[in-house]
Amino acid sequence: MTRIFIVGAILATAVAAPARAQDAAEKAFVDSVLSRMTLEEKAGQLNQLTGGSDENGPTLPDSILANIRAGRVGSLLGVHGARVTREAQRAAVEQSRMRIPLLLAHDVIHGFRTIFPVPIGEASSWDAALVERSARLAAIEATAHGLNWTYAPMVDIARDPRWGRIVEGSGEDPYLGAQLAAARVRGFQGSDLRAHNTMLATAKHFVAYGAAEGGRDYNVADISERTLHEIYLPPFHAAVQAGAGSVMASFNEIAGTPMHGHRGLLRGLLRDTWGFAGVLVSDWTGIMEMLRHGVAADTGAAAALAITSGVDIDMMSRFYIQQLPALVRAGALPQALVDDAVRNVLRAKYRLGLFQDPYRYSNQQRQDTLTLHREHRAFARDIARQSIVLLKNERGVLPLAKNLGTIAVVGPLATDARSALGNWSAAGRETDVVTMLDGIKAAVARNTRVLYAKGAVVQGTDTSGFAEALAAARNADVIVAVVGETQDMSAEARNRTSLDLPGTQQPLLERLHALGKPMVAVLTNGRPLAIPWLADSVPAILETWFLGVQAGPALADVLFGDYTPSGKLPVTFPRTVGQVPIYYNHKNTGRPPVESDHYTSKYLDVPWTPQYVFGHGLSYTSFSYSAPRLSRTTLRTSDSLVVEVTLTNTGQRAGTEVVQLYLRDHVGTSTRPVRALRGFRKIELPPGGSTTISFTLTPADFSVLDAQLKPVVEPGSFTIFVGGSSAATNQASFRIE
Ligand code: GLC
Repeated sequence: MTRIFIVGAILATAVAAPARAQDAAEKAFVDSVLSRMTLEEKAGQLNQLTGGSDENGPTLPDSILANIRAGRVGSLLGVHGARVTREAQRAAVEQSRMRIPLLLAHDVIHGFRTIFPVPIGEASSWDAALVERSARLAAIEATAHGLNWTYAPMVDIARDPRWGRIVEGSGEDPYLGAQLAAARVRGFQGSDLRAHNTMLATAKHFVAYGAAEGGRDYNVADISERTLHEIYLPPFHAAVQAGAGSVMASFNEIAGTPMHGHRGLLRGLLRDTWGFAGVLVSDWTGIMEMLRHGVAADTGAAAALAITSGVDIDMMSRFYIQQLPALVRAGALPQALVDDAVRNVLRAKYRLGLFQDPYRYSNQQRQDTLTLHREHRAFARDIARQSIVLLKNERGVLPLAKNLGTIAVVGPLATDARSALGNWSAAGRETDVVTMLDGIKAAVARNTRVLYAKGAVVQGTDTSGFAEALAAARNADVIVAVVGETQDMSAEARNRTSLDLPGTQQPLLERLHALGKPMVAVLTNGRPLAIPWLADSVPAILETWFLGVQAGPALADVLFGDYTPSGKLPVTFPRTVGQVPIYYNHKNTGRPPVESDHYTSKYLDVPWTPQYVFGHGLSYTSFSYSAPRLSRTTLRTSDSLVVEVTLTNTGQRAGTEVVQLYLRDHVGTSTRPVRALRGFRKIELPPGGSTTISFTLTPADFSVLDAQLKPVVEPGSFTIFVGGSSAATNQASFRIE
């Protein structure tokens, strides 16, 4: 037991004391450690490196161990596993002078080893509790492997499906995005960061990363202050309010200022206005990239700009460790800035309980017991089927009977275990995946034949598989065509100028369709696709995104009706990439589109409406809505409003509906969106069942940002829309006097 532990243990026992004493103990401890550190050791706490890896997983090269022992590293990225994390912590707490434990981070985005649906898929469940549970289980597995920090949730709003990272977020809407951001922070961090199965969450990428021009990753985001505050900031604010222990700066600039050097938003808004007291980490070499942005002439200038702006930890630039001590000694940088950053890092380690016991996370027995736990896999199946969106179902093609004579499954993605995991799949393994084909085979009756043919390619022009696919289809009673993208066509730096089905999938679908047999299209993809032919021609379409390790069973549950689909789109599906950006909460303009009036805002060649609207998703049953009932039709600016609506399951099956409530503010001191999501509820009903749902809207729900971007409730007329998508028509109006 070294002195740092004894100090830590004594002070940390104060945690049971009231919060005030706790804060005082925390501050005293952090200051006591800081007071003993050299300038080089302080810069070391702000330096983050990666480990190595080999066929067995992460490794710790001698160079990294030497840096840790020399006090030149405060955190590691990508080092996980009970043994190797224990080795890393030992080097820090037993073999360095200051004995400060390490933060051990990884991109645990949608599961650690038990991989759940990609985030845009989980968002399609519109279920904050479910999404929180997903993050909770991910944290349980990740911490069992020694990690104490995840670079999730990614909370970037995305309105441009060309941008590959749309797959990593919760879609286009600030309200849904904020709810799910807070849920994921709660899931990862739990109720006590000192617990051995909770970890720091990171709200990323701060901010407006999804506004990259052209949908081209890392590109300029040139947006207005108002759009920044109304659209891109709310999910980050929700994450900070939920207690996110970390925020990651984004690669992009906003209006001429790279985010890693954006003092106004990092120190001004995030820390001073919102009161964020956690760790602000750069993105990978984000500090170095300010040289390329052209706002810093050399490494010293980039390091000074970043730490002055509020970036605490330098991920992989090595500019802090190289430059900060010299800058301080030369009087070019106040030491207080370095000390503040180090305090943020030490406080995070203290709150995680790492000073008390740096080995608490590295536990082989827990790792062995919890990894791929059957409860985690059972949950993976449940969240996956709730992430599936039924886009179309004509003539009741779905659900399929399990005792059909022959089913032809077509498409390379039906057996693509790697794509089922999606991108950012942490420690996920293809061998853990039950593929869509295997899920279908396991679900059908014994005497039902399942034929499979790859048929098409997802990338390239090869049509040599068409004949085999057509032959299988000719011998089948129904065709299940699994089409879409491979997982490496979305996520970071994976942008597309086209949203069409890639490869030779479209021509194969057309040949299959010409056979005139019942046909189901199963989409598996990382972004909204432009599928006008599918939408017009194929009677049943499921959107499944990338469903994770239980992709097959989850798909089968929906295909054969063991689960009635309940998913809703968290993003708009355009008819063509030429419409992008297209989103539901758009402005009315001075010439809103009217077919009968040429001189209004629309296109000559394509309808101005989307293929599928935000919030769209069908069921195997049907639902009806009463008109919304309002507790009052005239409000004062301080009043709340209760909205009630009766939902009825008018079909023959039990089903779950996501009831959505949208608001329109007809007149404001600034233009208002034609609709804005202000509430949703996921309701399960038996056939014929009815229930009344009540929403309470508060002044915060009615508020807009005034000319100074401050929230204010403005008098005027409003309309409430309630229904199963953003195209809901059941409405009621009220006034605020
Ligand atoms: C990447 C990503 C970020 C990730 C980080 C560490 O460049 O932008 O989302 O957390 O590097 O892997």
